[in-house]
Amino acid sequence: MGETKKTIFHMSDIHVGEDGVETDDFRQIVDSIEKRAAHVTSPLLLITGDLTAEGLREEYEEFAGVVEGLSVPMVVIPGNHDERNYGAVHFEELLGERFKTYEDDSIALYAADSAEPDNDAGHVGRTKYEEISDFFGQAKEKVRIFALHHHLIPVPHTGREHNVVEDSGAVLGVLDLANCSIVLNGHRHVPWMWNLNNMVHYTTGTLLSRRIRGATIQVHTLIEISEDDVTFTLIEKTGSASLFSRSELRVLPRSSL
Ligand SMILES: [Fe+2]
Repeated sequence: MGETKKTIFHMSDIHVGEDGVETDDFRQIVDSIEKRAAHVTSPLLLITGDLTAEGLREEYEEFAGVVEGLSVPMVVIPGNHDERNYGAVHFEELLGERFKTYEDDSIALYAADSAEPDNDAGHVGRTKYEEISDFFGQAKEKVRIFALHHHLIPVPHTGREHNVVEDSGAVLGVLDLANCSIVLNGHRHVPWMWNLNNMVHYTTGTLLSRRIRGATIQVHTLIEISEDDVTFTLIEKTGSASLFSRSELRVLPRSSL
């Protein structure tokens, strides 16, 4: 394993407002991330949607109250639950743009809103493909990361497939041609990693929802990125950590491989 260049704390599917989800637990986890972040290389908190249960104003305010003033840089995008009841209005007001980019010396991250109002299915959309290609095209020396709420590839142990991104084939094609290194998402509440054409696809589990599907647990993921590999470590609510998976990384553009 190479020297870590970037550390991403990846959480998803918090579902503030859902029965059994305690805001105090969420606050405690965010505090623990802030403490851990002080001892890692170049930390970033990435939250891939379903912040709320029903997209309601009071749920958004509760979520925003916990992450407000965080000392760690944060990128947050909405999920399908956040777009219920036209919640996108509250998202934009309290948490900014629904599509975001983040860039530093080692990574280029494009974070997309794959949710639509009152539709649980995922969708990126043709109008975004060129923007995604251009963004990754100007970041050839960096680890290129695409983040969204929904999964582009089905996840095992989650029951029958539904809600996969409607234009997933086209999006996968765009990402493959753009030499995307890592795709990060949530939505399925079950951690999983696929490696497709040397592109790593990682789904993190739910942070706090009780709907954990069988024998999995509530987690967030510590992602350590080096020049040539990526490591995913699951961190439970209690703070206990266990290695989930590791993969080599495609960083160089295909033409120079
Ligand atoms: Fe979701």
